[in-house]
Amino acid sequence: MDICRVAILGCGTVGGGVARIMQDLKQDLSMRAGMPVDLIKIVDLNPAESANRHGINRDLFCGTADTITPEEASSFISEIIHDKDIDVVVETIGGTSDFLLDIVKKLIAAGKHVVTANKALLALYNSDIFTTAEASGVQIGYEAAVCGAIPIIKTIQESYSGDKIQSISGIFNGTSNYILSKMKEEGLTFDDALAIAQEKGYAEQDPTYDINGYDAGHKLLLLIKLAFGLDLAFEDIAISGIEDITDDDLDAAQELDSTIKLICYAEKRGEKVFATVRPMMVKNSNFLSQISGATNAVRLINMYAGEQILIGKGAGSLETASSIVADIVFLARNQGNNFHTGDSAGVSLMENDEFELPYNITFDLDDVPGMTGLVATAIGNQGINIDTVGHNRHNIDRAVFPVATMPCSMNQIRAAIDDIEKKRPGVYLNPPKVVPILF
Ligand code: HSE
Repeated sequence: MDICRVAILGCGTVGGGVARIMQDLKQDLSMRAGMPVDLIKIVDLNPAESANRHGINRDLFCGTADTITPEEASSFISEIIHDKDIDVVVETIGGTSDFLLDIVKKLIAAGKHVVTANKALLALYNSDIFTTAEASGVQIGYEAAVCGAIPIIKTIQESYSGDKIQSISGIFNGTSNYILSKMKEEGLTFDDALAIAQEKGYAEQDPTYDINGYDAGHKLLLLIKLAFGLDLAFEDIAISGIEDITDDDLDAAQELDSTIKLICYAEKRGEKVFATVRPMMVKNSNFLSQISGATNAVRLINMYAGEQILIGKGAGSLETASSIVADIVFLARNQGNNFHTGDSAGVSLMENDEFELPYNITFDLDDVPGMTGLVATAIGNQGINIDTVGHNRHNIDRAVFPVATMPCSMNQIRAAIDDIEKKRPGVYLNPPKVVPILF
């Protein structure tokens, strides 16, 4: 290509930001790409409103009326798929419908590079989309799909090409981090904190995936493929969200000089990769514990470069759009040639419950003599080394106390929990809560 011609599908929050940056920085982008970078078409259901909202030239939009029908939009998209002059298509429609997957696959088959922030679509149809792209000799730009403005994809692809990533951990969802921060710092309930996150526009329209860890899981899946070459199905990743985090959990974390965060974690040991998304007690000496509000952070441990942390906005119109525009320039400059990551032969996912981590187990039991001994003995019998037994809160007639362990597996912890129940049936007033501790 000697001119990079771009079309945008969907001119909402992110697509509008892309059009705006491409319009504002046209000269700079062309200079950086080494060729003219031209936005030539936008398809959106509300051309008049979107042009006005984002300050974009109205003539770029397909259709002359203020609004167009979905059928008209489909027909304009079809024209773009068949337009030999268009090199790069930005997909900012969003969602994971068959309709959208079909559009993306048709664009790829037609030889167009696709740039998207759609982590859910890429995570769910990963192999399908990337394999089709490879066969068609085109690239998928997805910098914006993982932690919005943070340049983690190109950092892994380019800057760490002389190293080996050993682990990735981080805060990949701003909404859940905002909620946990508000609960900790202002003593808000989960529901009140969520309501404010929605008011401020951090949460997705439907915040289910922000809260249950799925949004973060989509991003982790993409990084695991990039860093470790491992192709996972989304359901392979053990994911739990922040729905059940209570004041008691936050207090227990504070006692352990830790902060509860929804952590994405992946580590490669030998040929095995451990991967999970779940609330963890992050030690206050770990920088991730200090990331508060809607901010995202990615912490990498490299074999040679050691620890590196990237921090930034994980969402937002122009923030996310800046990553998309960077992908467009990258594609033009590199003529679609991509960087390849490491050899993935023989790499597989580790059985989750075998991976050893330090854990905090909070017990909620009848407040009667012998409970601490019963618990500590059962844990010791499974070969688990106890680090600390925490303050017993003696909540009226119940004993609520945390036990922090040295690294052990969930299999060992489950066996200890079952053993306690067997020795004293009905002992648990609530099931013990088990949270990994991240140093
Ligand atoms: N809703 C997400 C978040 C951003 O709260 O971080 C897009 O994945």
